Amino acid sequence: MTPTPNQAPTQLISVADIIAWKQALEKGSTVGFVPTMGALHEGHLALIQSAMQHCDVVVASIYINPTQFNLSADFSAYPSDVDGDIAMLHSVGCHAVFLPETDLLYPHGVAPDHFDLAGLDGLLEGAHRPGHFQGVATVVNRLFDLLMPDKAFFGLKDFQQVKVVQQLATIRDSNPEIIPCPIVREPSGLAMSSRNRRLTPDQCADASVIFIALQAIADSQGSLSPVEIQSQMTGAIQASGALIVEAIDVVCADDLTCPDPMIPLRNHDKKVQVMVSAFAGEVRLIDNLTVYTG
Ligand code: PAF
Repeated sequence: MTPTPNQAPTQLISVADIIAWKQALEKGSTVGFVPTMGALHEGHLALIQSAMQHCDVVVASIYINPTQFNLSADFSAYPSDVDGDIAMLHSVGCHAVFLPETDLLYPHGVAPDHFDLAGLDGLLEGAHRPGHFQGVATVVNRLFDLLMPDKAFFGLKDFQQVKVVQQLATIRDSNPEIIPCPIVREPSGLAMSSRNRRLTPDQCADASVIFIALQAIADSQGSLSPVEIQSQMTGAIQASGALIVEAIDVVCADDLTCPDPMIPLRNHDKKVQVMVSAFAGEVRLIDNLTVYTG
């Protein structure tokens, strides 16, 4: 199959197509890859658009990866609309989509591999979701092996996932290059997520408080300590009674270490990220923002 940059429709590629497809590319052409679990939204399309700016040919994958879910109910409830997804990929000119079967990704059974993720997998979100990041690394590694992209694009909404995938790429001799892309938000500020489909309109409106609370911390220009940030944000997010905070983590953006909990951010010389997870009913939402640039 010959790739057809800038032409419709988005091609469905099988693993058998991939090698021929890569060989058919002009020498020096770059392949960009956007892995997804489907239920696409504007955030995913922004990743595709970014990949199209950086690369000659862009491939997306759609696969709901069982090994990264902690709750089987969450896995079963994950939304799926492959036809709708392919239409969306086509609308932004994505060249190809890969829809792997589980047997191809997990030929030895559905279980995560174990990677040395430099401890990043056990921290923060990883502490609430044991095994989650090993599951992500396993499927992403296998997709990289199969598709052999030059660059792979990941959204910064999953801030820790970006760090984990960067570590995975380091293990793989910097192959592919990981390109982090900005969070795409609803007009209300709510970070776009496939999970937002499970929110009622009221929950959607209430959940915008997460970004408002994050922005208030950024506006405080480093005058608050991590403990004060956690307290202020928990109060703001839970004020309406619609959301329950799971975690608010104040971390150094580079390595996810925690600054001194009692000292105002401006006393450190580091870029600081606040990462939030909260429940709206049964739907777990995450968001993050750089609140201090150091
Ligand atoms: O971010 C996601 O959608 C998933 O974690 C990914 C990277 C596609 C791996 O399953």
